[in-house]
Amino acid sequence: MIIHHKKEDLRQTLNGLRHKNQTIGFVPTMGALHDGHLSLIDQGLQENDKMVVSIFVNPTQFDNTNDLEKYPRTLDRDLKFLKRLSDEIIVYAPMADDIYGSSVTSEYFDFDGLEHQMEGKFRKGHFDGVGTVVKRLFEIVAPDAAYFGNKDFQQLRIIQKLVQKHDLPVNVVGCEIFRAEDGLAMSSRNERLTTAHRDAAPFIYKILKSVKIRFGTESANQVTEWVVNQFAKHDLLELEYFTIADEATLEAVKRKSKSKSYRAFIAVFAGDIRLIDNIALN
Ligand code: PAF
Repeated sequence: MIIHHKKEDLRQTLNGLRHKNQTIGFVPTMGALHDGHLSLIDQGLQENDKMVVSIFVNPTQFDNTNDLEKYPRTLDRDLKFLKRLSDEIIVYAPMADDIYGSSVTSEYFDFDGLEHQMEGKFRKGHFDGVGTVVKRLFEIVAPDAAYFGNKDFQQLRIIQKLVQKHDLPVNVVGCEIFRAEDGLAMSSRNERLTTAHRDAAPFIYKILKSVKIRFGTESANQVTEWVVNQFAKHDLLELEYFTIADEATLEAVKRKSKSKSYRAFIAVFAGDIRLIDNIALN
């Protein structure tokens, strides 16, 4: 496994591979790697000759300094994890100046309204930060394909929009949500849950599965009301938002249409840890 901390060194390695006609897949991460990342990297390894995995906790996508400070940083463990996985992995673990120079700020993006829904309402500037870092990483790595989990479905749709609007030659691949056996969607934040909150958290997916059934016969408003009541009764989990939205526009559904695909999106606080999840409804 090769590890680079500087983009120039990474570019040199990747240019060498391209001369040999090797294809390059890419999984951008903020580290604290778990089985969810593993499933993305695995899929990438099956579809490309080499996989670049970046590990960088991107400051510009955090609207909350406490969240940024507490975000798990486990580089040594992450490197061991990747080393065991495959020899075909190239790690890019930069410091902020390698990506941002001396000005760690976001660019402003217009994602045709996708950025104003759900996470955008609760995390100001988050998607400008994500857009900035992903665009720069795509420019540095220039991958053939990049893999993102459906857990951050809004992020995935926004990155597809980024690629389309900026004409970036990357195939963006959305991958199934990877869940623990009890249904909790894998996330680096899960590590910070207390035992009681970790035990409570599978409730989120249980509710989403019921939502899928209910949406067959009930309106979006009825389903939403039911979800709000379920969480009101829960001692450990606090609902931040629940929305049933059109997969394409991410706008909340007003009237169901057979020709559209819908997804239910949820954000929940388990103590001070914020968890998100979603489920395809049709
Ligand atoms: O999903 C994440 O971990 C981050 O938002 C990403 C895509 C690595 C950008 O920092």
